[in-house]
Amino acid sequence: MKTYVKPFFALTIALVFASCGDKKPKEDFGKSAEEETVETTETAVDEVAADPLVAEGKTIFEGKGTCTACHKPDVKVVGPSLADISKIYKEQNASIVSFLKEEGKPLVDPSQYEVMKANFAITKAMSDDELKALEAYVLSY
Ligand code: HEC
Repeated sequence: MKTYVKPFFALTIALVFASCGDKKPKEDFGKSAEEETVETTETAVDEVAADPLVAEGKTIFEGKGTCTACHKPDVKVVGPSLADISKIYKEQNASIVSFLKEEGKPLVDPSQYEVMKANFAITKAMSDDELKALEAYVLSY
């Protein structure tokens, strides 16, 4: 997207300059392209900073949670993909926080529950805020 927008934007500026003092339509065209570029930048920044909870969850998920060892966003590795987990938890309106506290039942792949259970030693040592961040991160998929 960026690689497309930049040359397009540069071309638009060139066009606006070339037609300097000319008619309005071209100026408007240049303006909208400028706005579009700004919007693109803002969106990119938003995606990272939009939800600090999701960002924190990602840090824990990849860091001290070591969850990435078994969970990837879109493919099943040892554990189900985050997309699969997210889908089922949203459908059933269930709580990942409760699951990670060993207070809920496995909903995604009960036959592999024992493998996941080994991680409760880590997740039960986490604060509610940390678990909520993990939940927000998983549900962001
Ligand atoms: C050793 C591999 C492994 C690690 C590490 C791991 N998981 Fe899992 N996880 C699994 C497996 C296997 C399942 C499927 C069994 C199940 O659904 O309970 C699973 C299932 C889940 C589920 C779905 C639970 C359900 O209702 O079925 C969630 C949510 C989850 N993991 C979150 C995490 C989080 C958060 C971490 C990091 C703190 C983590 N997992 C680390 C293997 C792992």
